[in-house]
Amino acid sequence: MGGLASSLPLVLAACSETTDTASQTSSVEVPPPPPESIDFVEVGKVTDLENNKALVKENFAGAPLLVIRNPKDNSQLVAFKNECTHKQCPVEWKADQGELVCDCHGSKFKPDGTVVNGPATSPLATYTVKIDGDAVLVKAG
Ligand code: FES
Repeated sequence: MGGLASSLPLVLAACSETTDTASQTSSVEVPPPPPESIDFVEVGKVTDLENNKALVKENFAGAPLLVIRNPKDNSQLVAFKNECTHKQCPVEWKADQGELVCDCHGSKFKPDGTVVNGPATSPLATYTVKIDGDAVLVKAG
């Protein structure tokens, strides 16, 4: 009995050393992301945006998403919650007209989301968007 009792602390010490080493190794190998990139999510490629005049994602933060290039400043993108503010139908980017159009009841919006004509009375909700290389990144929050 005395032999078992005297070897027990050695076993416990060996277990705690293994656990400490494993946790130190994982924290060194996986550094936390920089604070500014935590909420940004890649939603597509710039090349796809250029080819299709828009990026559409069916579910982003619980709603459809539409990203277009700002026709007044070609270096900027604009990302919208793709729900008309009248009765939540999706809107479509009409690049040739320079407007977002809702086919349900005819509302039209400027490229910044403000209303051109109703029945919608409120602007489209927007998200912060940026380009990183060929990736289009949108901030969910
Ligand atoms: S839902 Fe868009 S105009 Fe009615």
